[in-house]
Amino acid sequence: MRRTTALLLVATLLAVAPLSPALARRSSAKVAPVVGETGVLGQHLSGDDIAAGRLSFAQIFQAGRKLFVAKFNVLDGQGRPAATGNGVPTLRDPSHDQGFLRTSGPDANSCAGCHNEPRAGGGGDFVANVFVLAQVRDPVTFDVREADERNTLGMFGSGAIELLGREMTDDLVAIRAAAITAAAAASDITRTLVTKGVSFGRITARADGSVNTSEVQGVDADLIVKPFHQKGVVRSIREFTVNAMNHHHGMQAVERFGVERTGTADFDQDAVADELSIGDITATTIFQAAMATPVQILPKDPVRKKAALRGGALFETIGCASCHKPSLVLENPEFCEPYARNPPGTFNDTTKSYCFDLTRDGETPLLGRGRGNTAVVRAYTDLKRHVICDAEHPVYCNETLVQGGVPTDQFLTRKLWDAGSSAPYGHRGDLTMLTEAVLAHGGEADGIRANFETLAAGDQAAVIEFLESLRVVDKTRLAKH
Ligand code: HEC
Ligand code: HEC
Repeated sequence: MRRTTALLLVATLLAVAPLSPALARRSSAKVAPVVGETGVLGQHLSGDDIAAGRLSFAQIFQAGRKLFVAKFNVLDGQGRPAATGNGVPTLRDPSHDQGFLRTSGPDANSCAGCHNEPRAGGGGDFVANVFVLAQVRDPVTFDVREADERNTLGMFGSGAIELLGREMTDDLVAIRAAAITAAAAASDITRTLVTKGVSFGRITARADGSVNTSEVQGVDADLIVKPFHQKGVVRSIREFTVNAMNHHHGMQAVERFGVERTGTADFDQDAVADELSIGDITATTIFQAAMATPVQILPKDPVRKKAALRGGALFETIGCASCHKPSLVLENPEFCEPYARNPPGTFNDTTKSYCFDLTRDGETPLLGRGRGNTAVVRAYTDLKRHVICDAEHPVYCNETLVQGGVPTDQFLTRKLWDAGSSAPYGHRGDLTMLTEAVLAHGGEADGIRANFETLAAGDQAAVIEFLESLRVVDKTRLAKH
């Protein structure tokens, strides 16, 4: 109520119809300057303008960055008095609204409030942890233990990660379709689910068209590779962004919370309608997708440099690379937003796509090219979920709430391409050293951790020196061509 009263006065003054900066510039009409406090967003971006190429790549990227660092205020629509932080639009009694609350949210002023190391879009300190699943509670919780506590990840290179997920999904879905066709003509057909050298178990198609997925491993039974959240439960940057805008800030995207899906333009009842347009979400997504690619930066000191190179080789020989794949090949590095397989409530109309090539446009260093039109993604992950904890190594078994139907002890193989810049470590960010993070591996990684433990001290140090050489560069700029 407290904010609604104030907002009713100003709500009528706010024009929320999308108007692109490009159009605003072209318009000869002078807009009267606003004196005093205003929303920080200004005009909303038009998704149609972006799709039609009326904004340059740099304009979209900068607009997305602006949205990512914006400290939203109530005039923008910050807060969600009548809605929980659930990604599925869920009403609550407005008397349950506590305003800012570190557990159930809204819990930050901007995306960059958490994602800020070494700069906006990056990872975060332990203090920036999120209490995942506390946001869906109604009434809210004040107890950090009633959640799965996670440390903030950096989005460096995430455009390539999303594209890997899309291509792997296409492969797995094609294997399933071929198995169903073959089974129709014969009896049960079993196929291994291998894509980009990563095995996701197997499926058996039956003559009646049904599929047995009980032997699928490390991915959901729908075979959609979901490379985001340390749990692997979100398929695209856009889907994550729409969730996060509501969860952390009470900023509700039209594509999820607007009239078409909820019957109202002000689902959270804060007196601001249509808080984020399709264009706003597209730009925020493209900013993240086009962030700098982490790279190996070898130490200048010759002794340390030699150790890092030797450590990289040891990382492979002792078996770390079986999960942390040193490279995966992307067949096509063109990033087209949105993703066709986005779930309902996350914009997925590919007739209105904006496309750019990750090896040409974006922050430097760009994604490296491979043979032909391919690109090589050196992210040190297989984008598969594993159990790497057990009774003797319980560190990574600390969660209690099931997220997205995934058992509490399964996590995606952590990307290590920014390991030298992403302290603290582990999904909770409660490990201060890389060595601790390695020694905490058990479960499926038990034998391989033991290989590390039996290395001579100098060899262990070399593996760590190698991990430290995988970094986010300090200085970046948008590529010129
Ligand atoms: C309160 C801190 C906080 C705020 C604010 C926040 N994030 Fe995050 N973000 C996190 C944490 C923690 C994770 C890791 C979540 C997990 O693994 O379950 C994360 C993960 C992500 C990921 C997935 C990265 C990956 O590789 O899996 C994306 C994308 C993302 N955030 C985007 C955003 C956007 C966009 C905003 C603003 C609308 C935002 N975040 C606001 C803390 C935050
Ligand atoms: C069975 C698959 C598997 C193997 C083998 C494996 N890892 Fe991991 N690794 C993971 C998963 C999954 C995580 C995420 C753990 C979490 O936070 O829940 C992880 C996390 C890490 C982290 C923490 C990174 C961070 O930023 O928090 C480091 C470092 C790491 N692994 C290094 C290694 C090294 C070195 C080896 C070889 C000795 C190795 N891993 C073997 C699956 C594996």
